[in-house]
Amino acid sequence: MDHLIEVKNLKKYFSTPRGELHAVDNVTLNIERGKTIGIVGESGCGKSTLGKTLMRLHDATSGEVLYNGTDIAGMPIKEFKKNYRSNIQMIFQDPYASLDPRMNVLQLVEEPIRVNHKEFSKTEVTKKAQEMMELVGLAARLESSYPHELDGGRRQRIGIARALSLDPDFIVCDEPVSALDVSIQAQILNLLQDLQEERGLTFMFITHDMSVVKHISDDIAVMYLGQVIEKCPAKEIFKNTIHPYSQALLSAIPIPNVHISKQRMVLKGELTSPIDPKKCCRFAERCPYAEDKCRAEEPVLRELKPGHAAACHYAEKFIPQGTP
Ligand SMILES: Nc1ncnc2c1ncn2[C@@H]1O[C@H](COP(=O)(O)OP(=O)(O)O)[C@@H](O)[C@H]1O
Ligand SMILES: [Mg+2]
Repeated sequence: MDHLIEVKNLKKYFSTPRGELHAVDNVTLNIERGKTIGIVGESGCGKSTLGKTLMRLHDATSGEVLYNGTDIAGMPIKEFKKNYRSNIQMIFQDPYASLDPRMNVLQLVEEPIRVNHKEFSKTEVTKKAQEMMELVGLAARLESSYPHELDGGRRQRIGIARALSLDPDFIVCDEPVSALDVSIQAQILNLLQDLQEERGLTFMFITHDMSVVKHISDDIAVMYLGQVIEKCPAKEIFKNTIHPYSQALLSAIPIPNVHISKQRMVLKGELTSPIDPKKCCRFAERCPYAEDKCRAEEPVLRELKPGHAAACHYAEKFIPQGTP
C-alpha cells in the first residue's frame, strides 16, 4: 500500500479549568495516496481537532503524523512551514469567515500565491490566480466581486482555489459543504472529486453528514469522543458496520435506497466532554448492550475482517450475519 499519510497514536489534549480534554486520543490511521478517508462522528468528537493537528494548526500532544514517511508533527513549526505548508492544505466549512471582506475574488486567490511564491512577478501571480479561478469554475467576470456579493457555493470555490493554488497533494476538507444549500452541495462535491482525479489529490473528508460520506470516501473512520472506534472500506459503512455506535449513528439517518435491516437504535444521552476520561469504553454509558467489562476496560481497535476494524469488546456479536 502506498500511504501518503500515516497517523500513529496521535493525541491532542487541551488543558481546561476542569481538567485535560482529550480531543484526539490515540488515533492511528493511514491514508492511501490519491484516495479519500471520510471522518465521521457527532459534533464535538474531535474531527476538526484531528484535521487541524495534521495541518499543524495545533501542536500534537504526542504521536506521529508521517507525510511521505517524514514525521511532520514532531518537527519545529518553522521547518514545517518552510518545507511542508504548501503540500498540506485545508478547506473549511465556512469560507466566508476566513476570507478578508475587503479583498475581491482575484485578490483573495492571489494572496496565498503571492505569500508563498516570493519569486513570482505580479503578472505571474495574477496569471496563476486566474488559472485557479478557471480550475474551480469561477468566471473571470467575478474577479472584481467581493465575497459578500457571492453565494455560498462561489465562496467555497474561492476557498478551494486558495487551497489548490499552492499545488498541495493532501487536503483536509472540514465539512466543506455543510453550510451550503443541498443543490449546491452536489456541485461542490463533484468539483472536489474531479479535482482529486485530475491532480491525484489525497483527501481527509470530515463530515457529520452521513449521506455525503459514503459517496465521496474510499475508507471511513468513525470517531467517538476523540477515538476512532471503527474503520472500514466505504462500501461497508451502511450495511456492515459493526460497532454499536456506528450502527446507531447510521440508523438515525434516512437514506433512500439503503436498506438497513437492523432495528433502529436511538442514541440516548449526550456526547459528554472528554475531560479526563476513565479507562473504559467511552460509549458504554450510552450503549444498550454494555456489560461490566465495557465499564471496566478500554477496548482496542482490532481487525475483525480484512480492512475492517472496530473497538468493542463484543464486536463479534455485532458482525452482521451472512456477510463475507
Ligand atoms: N482550542 C480548543 N480549546 C479547548 N478545547 C477545544 C478546542 N478546540 C476544540 N476543543 C474541544 O475538543 C473537542 C473536539 O472538538 P472538535 O474537534 O471541534 O470536534 P468536531 O469537529 O468533531 O465537532 C470538543 O470537546 C471541543 O470543545
Ligand atoms: Mg468540526
